[in-house]
Amino acid sequence: MADDARPPTRIRVLPHAELCPDGLAFDARPGRKLVDELLAHGIAIEHACEKVGACATCHVHLREGGADVAPADDDEEDQLGDAWGLDAQSRLSCCVRVRGPGLVVELPRYTKNHAREQ
Ligand code: FES
Repeated sequence: MADDARPPTRIRVLPHAELCPDGLAFDARPGRKLVDELLAHGIAIEHACEKVGACATCHVHLREGGADVAPADDDEEDQLGDAWGLDAQSRLSCCVRVRGPGLVVELPRYTKNHAREQ
């Protein structure tokens, strides 16, 4: 099935003190980059390399739904090595194409850039 024909994916963003204090839920278009959907809904997630998978500042944790999206490739895995707070559910949101019934997204407390200033 083409992404355009798929039903929307419900995105739930867990509360983050600075970027999204109350949390947020919205419907996203399958096939779009997760980072673009977050930005389009007012979440000012960093994207220092302009979304080409080369900086790790767009790091997120997919707390639910991660199995429905394509797995990280080797390049993404390499970049993730630099992310702050890396765990098994870490992804670069510019490398994730929205897919599936729903995704639960946790924004890390710090980004790679921010952590460097701590
Ligand atoms: S915006 Fe740079 S890795 Fe995603």
